[in-house]
Amino acid sequence: MAAPRVASDVEAGLESVFPQELGLFADVFPTETRYQFCGHELSIAQHHGSHLGVAAPVWEAALALCDYFEKQKLNFWGQKVLELGAGTGIVGILAALLGGDVTITDLPMALKQIEENVCRNLPVECLTRTKVCALSWGLDHMEFPSNYDFILGADIVYLKDTYPSLIGTLQHLCGPLSTIYLSSKMRQEHSTALFFETLLPTHFTSKLAFRDENENINIYKVTRKNNT
Ligand SMILES: C[S@@+](CC[C@H](N)C(=O)[O-])C[C@H]1O[C@@H](n2cnc3c(N)ncnc32)[C@H](O)[C@@H]1O
Repeated sequence: MAAPRVASDVEAGLESVFPQELGLFADVFPTETRYQFCGHELSIAQHHGSHLGVAAPVWEAALALCDYFEKQKLNFWGQKVLELGAGTGIVGILAALLGGDVTITDLPMALKQIEENVCRNLPVECLTRTKVCALSWGLDHMEFPSNYDFILGADIVYLKDTYPSLIGTLQHLCGPLSTIYLSSKMRQEHSTALFFETLLPTHFTSKLAFRDENENINIYKVTRKNNT
């Protein structure tokens, strides 16, 4: 009777079928999806299957926030805007198309994808007022000013361990005249409600501006508390 196959046998079998050069798969499954918001057509590249993890796709909460801008007829003309945890950059790109002076941020590994989408979608006159740069919550927010008119975040409340550093970053960036829009899938398993109902109200005034019952997505409009 043949000996049962051990893990190393299985691995050897797989090695004979799949190439071992991991670099070959570093940027597999790029997709390009088109979206329409506020009279603009956006073409967004999403590098699925790469090292980007959750930064690769466009999340529903980002689309909900873009839709909210459209429904509310928001424009950002002359406004200083910063997006946190931008992923593909779709929200910041729309804010730039709507006139904002926009800084789009995420962890360093996501910047290449954001830059690609910025170049795909923004005409020169918008490019000159758009920046893409690294901002890791709780680490390098001090390099940014505290006078933004708008701070935007879509689906950035999903890792409980990061909640204190995200709050610290918002406290630094949010001035007395700033408005923060946070669009969030309300995931029970990630204690998203704890962030919005307990942690955030300690330092900010927060109001539910919109709820999509079907998608379980909330959009909060947040400002600094008068006394902080
Ligand atoms: C679920 S994705 C949302 C992406 C995009 N906003 C959207 O809705 O399509 C979460 C984003 O937060 C970013 N992120 C996670 N932890 C971070 C941290 N500590 N500092 C900065 N960005 C972070 C990820 O890189 C990712 O782009």
